Amino acid sequence: MTHDSGRTEPPAPDYRLGASERERQRLLAQGDLLRPAARALLDRIPLADGARALDVGCGPLGITDLLSAATGPRGHVTGLDADPQMIAWARESAASRHLSNVSLVHGILPSPEIPQAAFDFVHCRLLLINNTDPRQILRAMAGAARPGGWIAAQEFDWSTWQCDPPHPAWDELKSLIVPVFGGDVHIGARLPTLLRSVGATDIGVTAHVYYWRPGDLYQRLLLHFAGLFHDRITAQGTHPDTLHSLTETLRRHLDRPDTTVRESLLVQAWGRTAR
Ligand SMILES: C[S@@+](CC[C@H](N)C(=O)[O-])C[C@H]1O[C@@H](n2cnc3c(N)ncnc32)[C@H](O)[C@@H]1O
Repeated sequence: MTHDSGRTEPPAPDYRLGASERERQRLLAQGDLLRPAARALLDRIPLADGARALDVGCGPLGITDLLSAATGPRGHVTGLDADPQMIAWARESAASRHLSNVSLVHGILPSPEIPQAAFDFVHCRLLLINNTDPRQILRAMAGAARPGGWIAAQEFDWSTWQCDPPHPAWDELKSLIVPVFGGDVHIGARLPTLLRSVGATDIGVTAHVYYWRPGDLYQRLLLHFAGLFHDRITAQGTHPDTLHSLTETLRRHLDRPDTTVRESLLVQAWGRTAR
């Protein structure tokens, strides 16, 4: 997108999970699951009443509702997303929740729509894992925070994502999805180093782990991704019949009453920009 000033926005990110109604529902349900962890993160960040916060890649809601409550009626929250459909959904979410101190902006970070050094807190959740240049985004997040402000990221590290009892179909399917996912699926593990590399100090880090059982929403997430990435996986050389047989074998295993899934580790890291 080119602006009147002649500035050029970066190309739209290749968010491979799409903006379907199903993805909207998945993100909202995921947000519910991760809400206690997000609250715990905000408890660690000293956000004064009246603070200004930015949620980058907010999707259909992100944590804009929690930020709205944390910053209070005198505060302000901006939700930014690269996808106009996500922003339309985020506006619906804000309206239905009566979030009067939230504005939703369509734009790609780094974005000319986002002022520099303007926010007390800049946050992203599950944004860097879907991007090929996470450092550039973190640098832009640090630039949007005021001197001495806070930046934080919540990202998964797929290394703990495993089923028990283990099954070869799980390992094989996961290894087929990793290279086509579109970002570093282990980025959660790198967050402290990445934050340090963009000049953040006072870095903190913690993590949350989740376990699922048959019937839980996320018990079959790997199968959902296998469906979404079907064409990319087969384009890499896996025959469609092989992929079908792998997914059906794994579906039967995951549906057994004694199979549990340990979710990816949700890593939260935060730090301050230079004063
Ligand atoms: C996995 S979704 C996460 C949504 C939300 N943060 C949550 O936790 O529910 C990632 C979102 O980031 C958006 N996105 C990806 N790259 C972006 C960028 N550079 N600037 C703004 N939004 C971006 C995508 O359009 C998508 O809506």
